[in-house]
Amino acid sequence: MEQIHLRQPPKRLLFALVGVLIFGVLLFQFSIPSNPQPGSASWGSAPPPAGLMGDIYNSTLGYEKIFVVGLPSRSDRRDTMVLQAALSDIQIEFIDGVMGKDVPNKAIPMERGKDRQPNATIGSWRAHMNAIREVVQRNLTSALILEDDTDWDVRIKQQLHEFALAARALTQPLHGSPNTNTYLDPTFPHPGPDSPGAIGDIAFPEFPATVPPTVSPYGDNWDVFWIGHCGMHFPFEGSRNIPKGRIIRLNDSTVAPKRNIWTFNIPFTLKDQYPAHTRAYHHVQEGVCSLGYAVSQRGARKLLHEVGLKPLSEPFDLLLRAYCEGDRGRRAGRQCLTTQPGVFQHHRAAGPASAMSDIGEHGDGWRELPMTDMIRWSVRMNADVLMEGQTDFVDQWPDEKKEKAG
Ligand SMILES: *[C@@H]1O[C@H](CO)[C@@H](O)[C@H](O)[C@H]1NC(C)=O
Ligand SMILES: *[C@@H]1O[C@H](CO)[C@@H](O)[C@H](O)[C@H]1NC(C)=O
Ligand SMILES: *[C@@H]1O[C@H](CO)[C@@H](O)[C@H](O)[C@H]1NC(C)=O
Ligand SMILES: *[C@@H]1O[C@H](CO)[C@@H](O)[C@H](O)[C@H]1NC(C)=O
Repeated sequence: MEQIHLRQPPKRLLFALVGVLIFGVLLFQFSIPSNPQPGSASWGSAPPPAGLMGDIYNSTLGYEKIFVVGLPSRSDRRDTMVLQAALSDIQIEFIDGVMGKDVPNKAIPMERGKDRQPNATIGSWRAHMNAIREVVQRNLTSALILEDDTDWDVRIKQQLHEFALAARALTQPLHGSPNTNTYLDPTFPHPGPDSPGAIGDIAFPEFPATVPPTVSPYGDNWDVFWIGHCGMHFPFEGSRNIPKGRIIRLNDSTVAPKRNIWTFNIPFTLKDQYPAHTRAYHHVQEGVCSLGYAVSQRGARKLLHEVGLKPLSEPFDLLLRAYCEGDRGRRAGRQCLTTQPGVFQHHRAAGPASAMSDIGEHGDGWRELPMTDMIRWSVRMNADVLMEGQTDFVDQWPDEKKEKAG
């Protein structure tokens, strides 16, 4: 049975102890992965935790499968994803996207009196639904679904481990409480009529112990983790369906400096009200861009029902938002969690800007330098470093602009 030790002494103190003792302590203590400063050689040296939590370090990141959706014709993207996955020691499986024009009207749930959506919208929706349907059909306990142009940090496993600690704190019942339906977040699973509009910030990682999950290392009481996006709000005070818990993690060295983080959701509360390098974990409110999300089996079934079989009235990400918020004809009560900034982001390859997307117009420009928004030690941008077995990672978004070497 794994346990979370909350008052763990700071690492520095541990180092002061005798070697044998350190070894013994580390062996028996659940340790939060250290988050070394960029340039540190100790990356990845912490052993994975024991028990179910350790599965987050497995080849499917603690989910049962990782699916990547996209058109088979985009071999450039598939090459990139296969390489990134190999360099991260993870296994992916492609799910073929389709061109919207190939989806007949009869196959699209329509709304009376409304026109067919643009073919780009239809193609994207179908690609995601194919992946979600696969989760249901194969009865997977959970799956991570990524778009085929995403990138992530070299430290993705540590990031997801920390996400899991937060997700458990927000959704698992408190340990040892007489009533097993008592949660750290008093507005979970649903804010009652008298619930406060906001609750105080919860500091990472000093959480009271929660009941350990038995199926997923991330907890057993969730539908969707929308962790690759281009914007989220903190839950609005007036949102009746959305729990208000907000976990704040300071000094996350994987978070880019303020000048390099952005969102489609204004105001950008994370940037405006918190110190630099703050990461937040909370429930989904007005998510934008479905770059990467995990689904549980129960979440996938409900998605097939609510987003696959109800009218296709908007692009997939807006439908995912409606699903999470119990809005626009979708049933309330889903548990969708997120983190800001997102841990999966678009990679923008060098080359003609029009190659960015098969569904939208991206102009005739030429991108000189590849980049991945907001990801500091991007796997894509560190392919050379990783293949050479080195650890002097290129930090795309350093705090101080250093003179370019060489
Ligand atoms: C990784 O861990 C998850 C959660 O326990 C599990 O469902 C999945 O099968 C594991 N993946 C592999 C490749 O063993
Ligand atoms: C979208 O697809 C439909 C069905 O194949 C086709 O009739 C229509 O012309 C397409 N629309 C555009 C703008 O290409
Ligand atoms: C799906 O998996 C669950 C356990 O994860 C099992 O109880 C159930 O019987 C399975 N359903 C089908 C149709 O295989
Ligand atoms: C975060 O880092 C700053 C500066 O490095 C330090 O002063 C502060 O104590 C740190 N806070 C936490 C919670 O570790």
